[in-house]
Amino acid sequence: MSQADDHAGSRRDFLYYATAGAGAVATGAAVWPLVNQMNPSADTRALSAIYVDVSGVEVGTQLTVKWRGKPVFIRRRSAEEIEAARAVDLGDSTLIDKGSENHNKPGTDASDENRTLDEAGEWLVMMGVCTHLGCVPLGNGAGEFGGWFCPCHGSHYDTAGRIRKGPAPRNLEIPVAQFTDETTILLG
Ligand code: FES
Repeated sequence: MSQADDHAGSRRDFLYYATAGAGAVATGAAVWPLVNQMNPSADTRALSAIYVDVSGVEVGTQLTVKWRGKPVFIRRRSAEEIEAARAVDLGDSTLIDKGSENHNKPGTDASDENRTLDEAGEWLVMMGVCTHLGCVPLGNGAGEFGGWFCPCHGSHYDTAGRIRKGPAPRNLEIPVAQFTDETTILLG
């Protein structure tokens, strides 16, 4: 089997799990009050975690996957994107949300170092959901800050996914994520 076949296979596997996950979310919504009181076991929570193969993601591109019914952006940033994000001073008046919803580092500030998955800052994993009213922002350098742009009402996010202009009140949310090996990211 060629490497390309391998990748196609893992993509198919991933889509299967993602679809199953979406169904679970839909069902879960209806029974949420009950489940919430039952304090679901670790087994139940593990079902909502997925592995993503990022071996095919080139520098300067982005993979969007569906997780728990929502899009997640996995961006492999270029050196220019990293530099632009790290050059932003936290005192910058255009930095609207200086803290942020970061489930890997709760309570930390919105510095680029705190938002990326790896120390070098190449990998940025964020919920692809605008914090204004929930549209999916456009990526690949969109908007006035070279990151993401939500055309619904004009929110501009920078190359670290931080809101810099427009009505969105918060930075794009960072989900629980980690590398399990060099080319696999575990979400959840
Ligand atoms: S939903 Fe994104 S700007 Fe309103």
